[in-house]
Amino acid sequence: MRLAKDVATRAHAPYSQFSVGCVIVDENDQMHVGCNVENASYGLTMCAERNATGSAISAGAERFKTIVVASRKAVTPCGACRQVLAEFSSHDTEVFLIDLDGRQREQHLLSHLLPHQFKLESDSKPQS
Ligand code: THU
Repeated sequence: MRLAKDVATRAHAPYSQFSVGCVIVDENDQMHVGCNVENASYGLTMCAERNATGSAISAGAERFKTIVVASRKAVTPCGACRQVLAEFSSHDTEVFLIDLDGRQREQHLLSHLLPHQFKLESDSKPQS
């Protein structure tokens, strides 16, 4: 949780002034971090959770055990981030939401934050 708060201080959030830090703990208890990175072309902004996901997968992580999100108030990940996190999570993956000064702390299951995650029914590709 301390690391998630530290990572939030590295956010590039000059437009919203809303810094977010995320730590993902993988199946080997390795930690992977991400912060939000905004852009002058607002729609190109990338959330902390998706940057942490990219960092985790790039480092070789396969499954997410625990996710911590820190910002000035405890906020739940946006819908897009829930779907991306769910790709690598299990029914018991936990999400901790904390604020930067230690007053708020929530704990959820990702599977509760995102019921009915989108999944392809089959990995098999249509025959050409
Ligand atoms: N943000 C995140 O980093 N994660 C979320 O789940 C929601 C929002 C960022 C995006 C933007 O830089 C700022 O928070 C305000 O929306």
